Amino acid sequence: MTTETSTRSANGEVTYTPQDGRLLEVEDLHVEFHTPDGIARAINGVSFDLHEGESLAILGESGSGKSVTAQAIMGILDMPPAVIPHGYIRYCGHDLLTMPEEQRRKTRGPEVSMIFQDALSSLNPVFPVGWQIAEMFRIHRGMNKSDALEQAVRLMERVQIPAARDRVKAYPHQFSGGMRQRIMIAMAIALDPAVLIADEPTTALDVTVQAQIMSLLQELQQERQMGLILITHDLGVVADVADRIVVMYAGRLVEKADVHDLYRNPAHPYTRGLLESIPRLDQKGQTLAAIGGLPPNLMRIPPGCAFNPRCRMAQDVCRTELPPLREVAPGRLSACHFAEEVIDA
Ligand SMILES: Nc1ncnc2c1ncn2[C@@H]1O[C@H](COP(=O)(O)OP(=O)(O)O)[C@@H](O)[C@H]1O
Ligand code: SF4
Ligand SMILES: [Mg+2]
Repeated sequence: MTTETSTRSANGEVTYTPQDGRLLEVEDLHVEFHTPDGIARAINGVSFDLHEGESLAILGESGSGKSVTAQAIMGILDMPPAVIPHGYIRYCGHDLLTMPEEQRRKTRGPEVSMIFQDALSSLNPVFPVGWQIAEMFRIHRGMNKSDALEQAVRLMERVQIPAARDRVKAYPHQFSGGMRQRIMIAMAIALDPAVLIADEPTTALDVTVQAQIMSLLQELQQERQMGLILITHDLGVVADVADRIVVMYAGRLVEKADVHDLYRNPAHPYTRGLLESIPRLDQKGQTLAAIGGLPPNLMRIPPGCAFNPRCRMAQDVCRTELPPLREVAPGRLSACHFAEEVIDA
């Protein structure tokens, strides 16, 4: 157990201090969904840290548990049906899962903030966007209306919304998808969070806009020294932005590495498959190499390595023994019985 690092200021507010540079620690997290059809084991022992100023990507196919991990950190899982039977999520040493509700509200949101794939459904359609951003300053910073609106304009300018001052009174539907995502980013960074989680922030956007939003996120992350968690199913999107990467499959981490190492030389057959599935500009029109088959039903995860029914390298041991996540080269972790052979391949 880590020691808590915080100080309480005169007005009783807790200010957080990262521990050895660690902002967030997720440790042995398990999340289940108890449904009428059975128990879906969505997260099965996930552990990772996020350091100050670090960009960590979480990569995996749809259904691998990326959003559930983020939702558990943000405390926005519907419980029930979700249950967290084991695990810790610590922010600067404080367990987010057990801290008192009052403290949690001052942590999730202001300190640890999140943007979603679908900006349209996250913004309120009946209020002007500037007003929605200004509300953050009014509620959390106690600013008056005109100061809060002025801050909103500055933030809209910072996220490069053209003619921000004139558009502060416009409604969400009057903006393009890319501009709406910029507004979501403005709201998410309004209170200067230490951690920003971006869950597929560009998936709904076209390719050029995707690149612009990613570079805006990268700029803001460096400017504010935030810890950034980038969730994606597309390694192509995050390769330039992320420092480290964790790969998820069936609610487990199967690989953890520096992004360049992983890109150059994956240590897990699943990561290799994902890399081969990235569309390449020089291969226009060709069929993409993809991983055959589908991810498992989370109510019936296969014994042994969950990837074994889809793995070309699978052997008998893969169908009976769960491969632990282990260091297979300096700084490289893989959960494959034959990781050394994959790296050497
Ligand atoms: N509300 C829910 N009820 C039941 N199962 C859920 C619920 N939300 C998520 N799950 C299960 O968790 C799995 C992982 O979901 P998710 O984290 O959203 O995947 P992704 O990696 O695509 O973000 C889903 O495939 C689903 O089986
Ligand atoms: S443990 Fe076996 S089935 Fe799993 S990825 Fe490695 S080789 Fe494939
Ligand atoms: Mg998701």
